[in-house]
Amino acid sequence: MEKSSLKKAIYPGSFDPLTNGHLDLIIRGSKLFDELQVGVLNNPNKNSLFTFDERVNIIKECTKNLDNVKVVSFDGLLAKYCEKNNINAIVRGLRATSDFEYEFQMAHMNRELAPDVETVMLTTITEYSYISSSLVKEVFKFNGDISKLVPDFVLEELMRKVHGGK
Ligand code: COA
Repeated sequence: MEKSSLKKAIYPGSFDPLTNGHLDLIIRGSKLFDELQVGVLNNPNKNSLFTFDERVNIIKECTKNLDNVKVVSFDGLLAKYCEKNNINAIVRGLRATSDFEYEFQMAHMNRELAPDVETVMLTTITEYSYISSSLVKEVFKFNGDISKLVPDFVLEELMRKVHGGK
């Protein structure tokens, strides 16, 4: 990997949609690196509620005040994307010990594929330790209150998408 003094990291995911848990990690991760890329996985085989463009647009809107955060897309292997784009680190969140095994496997596999790229795991703050995008979507679909769990813009987008704006 080309040496660069700029410390660049990527926070990868599908973000269908972005939640306050993701946003908290983006804000905290952005303080640790010169540049934090939020890498939206472009996987047409995954059945998502929001289209790829909508997911990217939501993250751009919700991170527009964070100067060193850039929203990017990637497909294929994350490790290869990191090497090609001089990314030094992969940021991942740990919500509970149950996340650990999966994250541990991914970190090892990514190190195998790109030995110079470190995985940095941040623990989520307690109030977001139980949320996931699917749970948020399910609760919203049945009219449950998710206003504390997602940014206002995501709530508006969910309203438009699921309840036709009502
Ligand atoms: N707050 C809220 N929700 C969180 C969260 C947090 N801090 N951290 C994770 N989640 C949720 C996500 O919203 C997602 O919820 P869902 O399943 O209900 O949609 C779930 O936890 C899983 O998230 P994650 O583990 O980040 O999966 P992902 O599909 O969003 O992203 C990639 C996984 C993109 C990082 C991984 O598949 C990848 O790198 N793919 C590229 C191909 C590759 O390189 N493969 C080899 C990897 S070793």
